[in-house]
Amino acid sequence: MPERVTAPKIRAMKGNQKIVCLTAYDQPSAAIADAAGVDLILVGDSVGNVVLGYENTLPVSLDDMIHHTRAAAKGTKSALLVADMPFGSYQSSVEDAVRSGIALIKAGAEAVKLEGDYVDAIQALMKAGIPVMGHVGMTPQSVNVFGGFKVQGRGKQADAVLEAAKRIEGAGAFSIVLEMIPSVVADKITRELSIPTIGIGAGPDCDGEVQVFHDIMGLHPGDPYKHTRRFLNAYEAMTLAAVEYAKGVREGTFPTKDNSF
Ligand code: KIV
Repeated sequence: MPERVTAPKIRAMKGNQKIVCLTAYDQPSAAIADAAGVDLILVGDSVGNVVLGYENTLPVSLDDMIHHTRAAAKGTKSALLVADMPFGSYQSSVEDAVRSGIALIKAGAEAVKLEGDYVDAIQALMKAGIPVMGHVGMTPQSVNVFGGFKVQGRGKQADAVLEAAKRIEGAGAFSIVLEMIPSVVADKITRELSIPTIGIGAGPDCDGEVQVFHDIMGLHPGDPYKHTRRFLNAYEAMTLAAVEYAKGVREGTFPTKDNSF
């Protein structure tokens, strides 16, 4: 059995080794990420836009997250499995936060991530034995407050992002995602915090990077987003495979006797 990555191990990687994180939403994607040796697999609420066809993460429910966390846990042997707390599962009360966190741990997560400086919720989750990952900057659950998916922390806003990150660290988070903030701001936060920063659209100076599985695999048609890179054009490769399959069936070259019993 491979040795499992734990939340304390992720924390101890700061300053020693870049931390590699990738989202996964089901058994096969988690198994691929795990076999590739990523340190942390995030069952992101981005499942809403990349898998479930929603416009953003707001409709994602706790039941959706439990369902996908259970599946991803089946494919994860070594990486730390972190599940996102979806919109509405922690904002109303600390009791809600703990109840939701426990449900995600029971589904197979080993830690949870929540957006914003919900200091009381983070402390209560820690007290319940649940490691917490923070998330600041362009936090997608606040898209309506931001008026769209826009870079945060520019100019005078930079200090507000830094202060929120410090409060989250103070509450006991073991790491923090910095999403879509200027790289100079991410660099400063990384130097001022003792917990690892995990960037996405936050430049090269964070302690680690997180990307969405479907983005790096090229599972969407169209141009990649600026903050990502396609390491494969899976959309094209899989569409071609489906075309070949259809051709085989229509022309009678598949299935053959070799595929028969
Ligand atoms: O939901 C998600 O995938 C995320 C990452 C992009 C950080 O929160």
